[in-house]
Amino acid sequence: MAERIFVSRRIPEAGLGMLREAGVEIVIGQQDTERGVDRATLLAGIRQCDVLISLLTERIDAEALYAGPRLRGVANMAVGFNNIDVATATTLGIPVSNTPGVLTETTADLTWALLLALARRVPESERYLRAGRYRIWGPDLFLGTDVGPGASGTSRTLGIIGYGRIGRAVARRAHGFDMRVLAYDVVRADIDASDTVTWAELDTLIAASDFITLHVPLTTATRHLIDERTLRLMKPSAILITTARGELVHEHALVTALREHWIAGAALDVYEDEPALAPGLADCPNAVLVPHIGSASTDTRDRMARLAAHNALAHLRGERAPNPVNPEVYDLPSFRSPSGAP
Ligand code: DGY
Repeated sequence: MAERIFVSRRIPEAGLGMLREAGVEIVIGQQDTERGVDRATLLAGIRQCDVLISLLTERIDAEALYAGPRLRGVANMAVGFNNIDVATATTLGIPVSNTPGVLTETTADLTWALLLALARRVPESERYLRAGRYRIWGPDLFLGTDVGPGASGTSRTLGIIGYGRIGRAVARRAHGFDMRVLAYDVVRADIDASDTVTWAELDTLIAASDFITLHVPLTTATRHLIDERTLRLMKPSAILITTARGELVHEHALVTALREHWIAGAALDVYEDEPALAPGLADCPNAVLVPHIGSASTDTRDRMARLAAHNALAHLRGERAPNPVNPEVYDLPSFRSPSGAP
């Protein structure tokens, strides 16, 4: 039987080309990139494949994993892998991989784009202009907040929650704005002497920051990290930015905070019940909302596709993948090897 990789939804040609060159059979569950793959097609695809390439939009839960009797790897084309039941995959001896590193800079860029857009009210003022409402310049037209020190010369404080690859890339960009940077992570990172970053406890960071940006993975411990309690800790002038995962923020509490001006604004790339928005969020003028485009540059998406293909081919050959998220699986007796025998 020919070895088959099932790609849940069409990925960039950069990755598909690699799979073709390797001579494997590729089946794509959904060719239209603006549509999801339906569950029945996903399960049928997994049932008949050796390796699955999934996107963050697919729920690869126990049902999906058990559906694949010969499944010996899941390569997620994303750095986040909260869509996959990794514990069950490990029990079944199935390695799971992700695509870290290649999207770091692109996501940090979007974080800054959102921060600046919200602070200087760019989308709101653009909508006003396009609606034909710009009649005359005025001294109070779309007053925003300074990101750099502004005329006062006072540096603003950026709070980074999650000081991993992306958090650090965001911090590097803050230097150009002469910001004071506070960082928090569950694992305290080494900050070397050249870093202009100060370590802070979570609540201290939240209460002291002018801008707060989230870069932690979604886990049971980080779900609703930003909720009514933490929103009320923020300064009324503060801005929240998230390009990580929607469920980090209690979106209903955020809508209340935006409506009642507990905080000045929020810029979101990700949503709790994506692609749906919490009721009222889209009506908040102090919110900037974009559709999960953190890693959306042509080059980065090509690199993600290539890395997912590398991981998938390694899974297929029974080799250690470049980016396994459950590396312990390789030492388990249940590890699914290409020969089919655990
Ligand atoms: C990821 O990779 O996890 C992002 O959310 C999409 O690129």
